[in-house]
Amino acid sequence: MRRRVIAGNWKMYKTIADTRAFFAAFSPMVADANYCDIVVAPPFPSIAAAVESTRNTKISIAGQNVYWEKEGAFTGEVSPAMLKQAGCRYVIIGHSERRQIFGETDEMVAKKTKAALAAGLTPIVCVGETLAEREAGHTERVCEAQLSNGPGALTAEEFSRILMAYEPVWAIGTGRTATPEIAAASHRYLRQCVARRFSPELAATLRILYGGSVKPDNIQGLMAQEELDGALVGGASLDAKSFASIVSGAM
Ligand code: PGA
Repeated sequence: MRRRVIAGNWKMYKTIADTRAFFAAFSPMVADANYCDIVVAPPFPSIAAAVESTRNTKISIAGQNVYWEKEGAFTGEVSPAMLKQAGCRYVIIGHSERRQIFGETDEMVAKKTKAALAAGLTPIVCVGETLAEREAGHTERVCEAQLSNGPGALTAEEFSRILMAYEPVWAIGTGRTATPEIAAASHRYLRQCVARRFSPELAATLRILYGGSVKPDNIQGLMAQEELDGALVGGASLDAKSFASIVSGAM
């Protein structure tokens, strides 16, 4: 049985003060949620406040991005060790906004994932097709390429320590969620690719989160699919009540 994960990706939202206010409201709401892992990814400047606000809770904090070098002249980047020391346990890698707006490639995703693992972080590696790719019938091909050129470059031991998120780009921030069946089909396909590339055992234990317009009113339908091991939530993770209600939906 794969333990579920509900992760919130705040993107470029929430100052330090907003972060403190969020956890003051959210932490008590999920105090009894022992059935899943809860992760929140604030913007870098709010990480310390998030870590401090969630001390003595079961909520873990994630970075939204990371660079693969240990240190150096890389203006604007942060290293895996910096995230780790700031108190992060997880890091999101290869989100479609990173790929589309900031030009991240599968090769960069692979390097970031390896470096994050080496620093003891758990990467949440995102893959997913655009609307044009889906409409052209290329969903499987795109997901397979992102998997094999990204985390497919890991050793089996490394791969056993990552999480993945399937996030169809057309469903992100659009209010257009994939139906539970569409999401499950992609998750099943990704698992088959993992079985081929690594082993059926790794495919069976890999946790794959679904992301793209997950809301309190669709989480239960999505979680009814046994292929879905949780959710990566953007917009609906910004409000404490709404995110807590998504956590309850993963019970
Ligand atoms: P959304 O974002 O829930 O706002 O669609 C999901 C994501 O980008 O991870």
